Amino acid sequence: MSKPKVLSTRPLFPEARKILDANCDIEYWVAPERPRAELLRRAAGKEGLICLLTEKVNQELLDAAPNLRVAATVSVGYDNIDVEACTRRKVVATNTPGVLDDTTADFAWTLIMAIGRRLVEGDAWMRSGTWPGWDLDQLIGGDIWGKTLGILGFGRIGRGVARRAQGFNMRILYSDAVRAPAEVEKELHAEFVDRDTLFRQADFVSVHVPLMPETRHLISKENLWKMKPTAYLVNTSRGPVVDEAALAEALENKKIAGAALDVFENEPKAHPALLPRKDVILTPHIASASIDTRTKMAVMAANNVVAFFEGRRPPNAINADALGLK
Ligand code: DGY
Repeated sequence: MSKPKVLSTRPLFPEARKILDANCDIEYWVAPERPRAELLRRAAGKEGLICLLTEKVNQELLDAAPNLRVAATVSVGYDNIDVEACTRRKVVATNTPGVLDDTTADFAWTLIMAIGRRLVEGDAWMRSGTWPGWDLDQLIGGDIWGKTLGILGFGRIGRGVARRAQGFNMRILYSDAVRAPAEVEKELHAEFVDRDTLFRQADFVSVHVPLMPETRHLISKENLWKMKPTAYLVNTSRGPVVDEAALAEALENKKIAGAALDVFENEPKAHPALLPRKDVILTPHIASASIDTRTKMAVMAANNVVAFFEGRRPPNAINADALGLK
C-alpha cells in the first residue's frame, strides 16, 4: 500500500523523523528560507502537512493543496491556522498542547527575574569593561520576593507560572474569562480578580492568553497607564496581545518600570522604539526552546499525522468535533 504524501516544512528532530519515515512518504524541506510561493508549490499534491506557527494554513494554502487532509502545526498556539477554512475543506488541524507548559512557565520566570533584577543591563556593563566596582545605587531593580504577581490568562501555562511563584512568597492575582476551580485557587494561593484590579495592583504582569480578536492589544495604552510606575510587564504568549507602540510610550513616560517580551506584534521585528531601551528585554520567541520540549512538540505533530492516516482520531485535533471525528 502506498504511504501518504506528507510535507514537513522543517527537518524536525530524529525522534519525530523516525515516526514519519516509517509511516509516510515524507518530504522534509531543508532550506535557509522558505518563501510562501515555494511552500504552496511543495504542498500541492500532499495529503499531510507539518508546519510551524510562522506558516499560515489558510484558504490560499488549502486551494494550492487540494489533496490535503491533515495539517499539524508544531505549536500549541494555532492562530496560524484558519480552522474554519480547514473544517469546510474537511482538513483536520492539530496542535501540540501540554508538552510545553512547564518550559514556557520556566521562561516566563526567567524574564520576570531578568527584568526585575536588570540582568541584561548588568551583563552588558560587565562586558563593556566600564564597571567601576561596587557602589550603593547601581542597577537598582525591583524585588520579586513578597511582591504581587498578576497572571493574565490562567490556563496551563498561567497556572505553571503561579506554581513557581509559591517559593517567592508572592500575592498571586489572576484574571481569566473563566474562573478556575476552587481547589486550583487554593492549591496555588491565587485570587481571581477583574483585569482592572490586576493591572492596578500587580508588580509583575505576566501574559498567558491565546491570541483571539478579544485579546489583540489587550495590553493597550489604557491598561498600561493603570499599572504601577514600579511594575513590569512580561509577555510569553503572542505578540499582538501587546500594543508595542503603546508600550514604548508607557515606558517613555515612566508609567511602568520595564518590560520583557519574547513575542512581537510583527515577528521577526520588534517595534523600533523598543530597541534602544534599557528598560526592555527582548528575546526571539524562545519560551518553549528546550531540546526536550521542542522534541516532544515535533513528535506530537508526527503522531497526530500518523494517527490520522491510520484511521484514528489524531490526539490533538483542534476541529475534531466540528468534523465529527470519533
Ligand atoms: C507555541 O507553541 O505556540 C509557542 O509560541 C512556540 O512554542
